[in-house]
Amino acid sequence: MNDQSQIPNDLDSFWMPFTASRWFKSNPRLIGSAEGVHYTTMDGHKLIDGTGGLWCCNAGHNHPRIVAAIQGQAATLDFAHSFNQGHAIAFQAASRLTELAPGFDHVFFTNSGSEAVDTALKIALAYHTANGEGERRMLVGRQKAYHGINFGGLSVGGIGLNKGQFGTLYPSTAHMRHTLLPENAFTRGQPQSGAYLAEDLAGIIETYGGHTIAAVIVEPVAGAGGVFPPPVGYLERLRELCDRHGILMILDEVITGFGRFGTAFASQHYGVTPDLFTVAKGLTNATVPMGGVFASSKVREAFLKGPDAMPDLFHGYTYSGHPLACAAALATLDVYRDEGIFENAAAMAPVWEEMLHSVQDAPGVMDVRNAGILGAVQLQSGETVGAAGRAMFEKLWDLGLSVRPIGDSLAMSPPLTLTEGDIAQIGKVLNKGLRG
Ligand SMILES: Cc1ncc(COP(=O)(O)O)c(C=O)c1O
Repeated sequence: MNDQSQIPNDLDSFWMPFTASRWFKSNPRLIGSAEGVHYTTMDGHKLIDGTGGLWCCNAGHNHPRIVAAIQGQAATLDFAHSFNQGHAIAFQAASRLTELAPGFDHVFFTNSGSEAVDTALKIALAYHTANGEGERRMLVGRQKAYHGINFGGLSVGGIGLNKGQFGTLYPSTAHMRHTLLPENAFTRGQPQSGAYLAEDLAGIIETYGGHTIAAVIVEPVAGAGGVFPPPVGYLERLRELCDRHGILMILDEVITGFGRFGTAFASQHYGVTPDLFTVAKGLTNATVPMGGVFASSKVREAFLKGPDAMPDLFHGYTYSGHPLACAAALATLDVYRDEGIFENAAAMAPVWEEMLHSVQDAPGVMDVRNAGILGAVQLQSGETVGAAGRAMFEKLWDLGLSVRPIGDSLAMSPPLTLTEGDIAQIGKVLNKGLRG
């Protein structure tokens, strides 16, 4: 049981993100503490954290080495900025990170995934400006894509509900179709069919001219749009088209980074190398907010042609390279390495896949999708889209498992420390919820 004196008596002041606040308040689910793969609510209900925070606690919760690193850093250097001055730990964190991504020798730090995406898009625009190709202004995204909620990321994103309240956003965008095809239902891992959808980029190039396009951004595996892996050959074809037309390819690895596929990044798992890629979440095991953009030397060098005394990129955040975040990142990388977290994800992936597909024939299940330690169970929608997903979320919560309803899909992304026993327990609760 958690400390009951901490239960708030006012649920109005906190304007919650992406939350149906009246529904939340009708039965507030308040988490009080966490450890490993578990959460405990304020009233003592223990749950498996099937969503790894929000796709981010890859090393499990409250890891003692990460906790100690943050505490130690707070007592040594709480804050210093990085505008024309520096502090050692930011350089250490960046260089440790680049070791995980051969070919990417540079990292720009942000405070979130949304900021990482907007930073990557701005770097792409500025790269072309630096190369004398300022007519490249179009940014290409994809339907059902989620790239955070800032202006750039929302513009290239493809979830209508997220955009509808806000009008035009960045004016020069085009969107490819998504790759969630009904004929691929119940595919294990990458679907065989759908690479042809990459030809949407060829169509956009034909319509607007390749010389007007700055960048294409996709998630290697679409996450918040419903969890669907790329069809075989799809990412490769996008890469080919980008190369042919001088377009930068950005992979948004905010969810897929840091071991979820057994490799440091999903691009390594799928064998497709972007020009820029974004990270956040698992970068610090979600303990301190931090994001980043990895840049290849080709991109970085374009910025080093101006006068020595001028900033080479007019962009940055007060908290870019925040010491606490850097300490958390370094400790997190140590834990990933020393405890074989990525290797565990690789070993557990087939067990995870088997468990997820064990619910295929449960009533109302329309699709099961998986990739690495990611997955979604899609339920039959009722009259109101999302109602079935929300009802199942509530039921599973009561049974001891947290999942993330996305419409009527139940998305899962547990900590990568999970054991066969944890997977079996998730399977037991899922089956009970879906069949009970
Ligand atoms: C692919 C992707 N990009 C960007 C973001 C935004 O990250 P943040 O919520 O840290 O701004 C998310 C968040 O889930 C994401 O899934």
